[in-house]
Amino acid sequence: MSATSPARPVLPPDIRARKGQTPLVVLTAYTTPGARLVDAHCDIALVGDSVGMVLHGLPSTLGVTMEMMLLHGRSVVKGLSRAMAVIDMPFGSYEESPAQAYRNAARLLAETGAPAVKLEGGMHMAETIAFLTKRGVPVMAHIGLTPQSVNTLGGYKVVGRDGEGDSVMADALAIEAAGAFSVVLEKVPMGLAGRITQRLAIPTIGIGAGIHCDGQVLVLDDMLGLFTEFRPKFVKRYAELGAAADAAIADYAAEVRARAFPKEEHAFADVLAKGTKS
Ligand code: KIV
Repeated sequence: MSATSPARPVLPPDIRARKGQTPLVVLTAYTTPGARLVDAHCDIALVGDSVGMVLHGLPSTLGVTMEMMLLHGRSVVKGLSRAMAVIDMPFGSYEESPAQAYRNAARLLAETGAPAVKLEGGMHMAETIAFLTKRGVPVMAHIGLTPQSVNTLGGYKVVGRDGEGDSVMADALAIEAAGAFSVVLEKVPMGLAGRITQRLAIPTIGIGAGIHCDGQVLVLDDMLGLFTEFRPKFVKRYAELGAAADAAIADYAAEVRARAFPKEEHAFADVLAKGTKS
């Protein structure tokens, strides 16, 4: 449980009320065991569409489907007792029209039990965000670098430098006016992220957006050193579990080949001795 979250499951208004308070702590989770780890320390478990790259070996988030988000969303919700699940709307599930977005967002909430969705986009998604929030779907917005637009952005670049800051600020103001309860700022220069954070009444949650945001989010597998294919500058590794797992698997393989594992203590006797359990 986060030291600052209420003694009951966290809901979108609790996150909204944390503006300017103790920073919000957010990590991704894709499975029940991952969600249990996150639940113990974080305010939000984000079922990010990064699941496509991290767990399914996809080259980007574009191939992630509604079925994948429903499956991982249900798995995460089972592992949470306090932290709030937020589920990413996958590419192609909301951009066409507010009605399409509502249909798919309603499925994500109804079929997983998560209380909120996240979607990418600023001014051009404001109408959709307003449509959803007016109909009972709390929305976390995501602006700056929006990975689902990697092909139009031309890569995973910093967004908001060199005179582009006004358009990111305009995106932030538009999604707030539309009713988003919080916003992820991804790969936005630190000064601009600070100005957006000061200007908005809703919490900003940064990833590669510096120290001034109202909260921080990282991909769980990145910060644990489990996903090592690439490492953006903004990722701090808090553990090297990938290297630890590699060493453990190498030990196991060597012991099996040397017939050093299993030993007698790992095996079952043919006759159960009195007073023993297995
Ligand atoms: O999909 C994801 O994990 C995300 C975070 C990186 C913010 O959107």
